[in-house]
Amino acid sequence: MPPLFRDLSDDLDDDELEPEIFLDAPFVPTDDAMVDMMLKLADLGPKDVLYDLGSGDGRIVIAAAKRHGIRCIGVELDPLRVADAMEDAAYAKVEFLVDFIEEDIFEVDFSEATVITLYLLDSINVRLRPRLLAELRPGTRIISHSFEMGDWISDERLELGGVSIHKWIVPAQVAGLWEWEGLNGEIYQVDLQQKYQEVWGQAWCDEQSVSLQNAQLCGNQLDLQIQTDPTSNPIQFTLHFEDGELQTIEQETQDN
Ligand SMILES: C[S@@+](CC[C@H](N)C(=O)[O-])C[C@H]1O[C@@H](n2cnc3c(N)ncnc32)[C@H](O)[C@@H]1O
Repeated sequence: MPPLFRDLSDDLDDDELEPEIFLDAPFVPTDDAMVDMMLKLADLGPKDVLYDLGSGDGRIVIAAAKRHGIRCIGVELDPLRVADAMEDAAYAKVEFLVDFIEEDIFEVDFSEATVITLYLLDSINVRLRPRLLAELRPGTRIISHSFEMGDWISDERLELGGVSIHKWIVPAQVAGLWEWEGLNGEIYQVDLQQKYQEVWGQAWCDEQSVSLQNAQLCGNQLDLQIQTDPTSNPIQFTLHFEDGELQTIEQETQDN
């Protein structure tokens, strides 16, 4: 395994000394089969913008650009890896789609990404987590080769040769008190609590306490059921959030 520290000063005269680069994770490339699985799990579409944080020789970025014709950005601190990645991108004829930024993953602005790929470490993912949650738009997919994200449990997981790939979908912030009018003029209120994509809380219909069930948050969309009395079917609602506000509500009565 390559060293965590690359000391560039070995090849330089004393008066040309450059500071050491501290890498938070060593360069270990993702193999081709795993790249395929990661891109499959990312479910890429023509409007996606992919960022690989710690992009190494750029293989994920180049594969995604080549196969899907989308804009892809690699962020890599090691200038030698960046140079390799740019050469490989030219060889793959995707230079016009890709960019390699020589910057620290903890400082770079990745907020335009709709897909993030990671092959770092559990501890690095956990350090990135607050920024991933705060700066990425709800619905952005995060795909991590091998490593998890602390107590933010992934939405989906695949295994390849005993190695896991995790997928998280950035959840909207939905905690709080929300109110809307049902199809028959009744007033529904929910007081929601949230931890990542997990949502629970209390509900009222015309100020009577009712049962809130099966809340499922995926990006900006929250599906939930409200049962107004134990003998009736629960009512299914789909709430859409935008910029922290409740935008639209769809209601459907569940059949038995
Ligand atoms: C395990 S490799 C993964 C490479 C590539 N993403 C892949 O899956 O093939 C991790 C990469 O992250 C880079 N890296 C480590 N710490 C970094 C940091 N703070 N900022 C930017 N890149 C970093 C390393 O130089 C290395 O190339």
